[in-house]
Amino acid sequence: MKDKITIQDIISAKGQRKLTMLTAYDYYTSYYLDQSGIDMILVGDSLAMVVLGHEDTLSIGMKEMLHHTRAVTRAAKRALVIGDMPFMSYQAGIKEAVHNAGLFLKKGRAHAVKLEGGQKVIAQIKAIVDAGIPVQGHLGLTPQSVRQLGGFRVQGRDKNQAEELIQDAKALEQAGCFSIVLEAIPTELAKQITSSVSIPTIGIGAGPHCDGQVLVIHDLLGLNEAFKPKFVKHYAQLGKTIREAITRFRKEVENGEFPDAEHSYF
Ligand code: KIV
Repeated sequence: MKDKITIQDIISAKGQRKLTMLTAYDYYTSYYLDQSGIDMILVGDSLAMVVLGHEDTLSIGMKEMLHHTRAVTRAAKRALVIGDMPFMSYQAGIKEAVHNAGLFLKKGRAHAVKLEGGQKVIAQIKAIVDAGIPVQGHLGLTPQSVRQLGGFRVQGRDKNQAEELIQDAKALEQAGCFSIVLEAIPTELAKQITSSVSIPTIGIGAGPHCDGQVLVIHDLLGLNEAFKPKFVKHYAQLGKTIREAITRFRKEVENGEFPDAEHSYF
């Protein structure tokens, strides 16, 4: 396995091998992803929902994102770490966008940033790339626009929207993005976008034709048993495992079984 994944490795993987990306928000999750050979670790703003319990990603800010990014980068020795720029850290202006992207590298020690949107945020993306900061784009269901999209739903089903997404992907490539996340779009459209750009597409709910796949780690591990949309596959049932372990602890303390001699000092 290669020692360290670089931006060039991600770009040159297109058409050669499938890329993997998962989210992490803390040191040990990052450690296990890194040890398991995952190419990219995304410190997603999904942190707001799966770690902090918010109903969407809108209320998380730079302070929390940098705090968690630093924990992730401390453990990642091989994987490329991408910091997700939170809502209103780049939308309001180019200067602020470049400054905040820079903080992910300076303070978070991330290798790249991700931000949501196509042609509407192209000026920000160009300026961030010009500052020497690698950018991953994000199209389709862009959760920071949930109010505008009217909910978390599949995008690009109608012809105009699909064409706009193809143009957005091309604009992101032109602006210098090294890859693009495609979230919640029909399989055929994802295939078309993937073949229209020379940079890798990383799908989540976008079918098998993308150049790579990403999932939120809590979804993959089955930590939220109630959350099972079509695109999520549970590779473990950690919710069940955690509940059983904690219940066993409670029962053993209550009936005096724990701590026994093996777990006590003499
Ligand atoms: O915040 C996040 O976890 C993401 C992924 C779903 C791609 O943006």
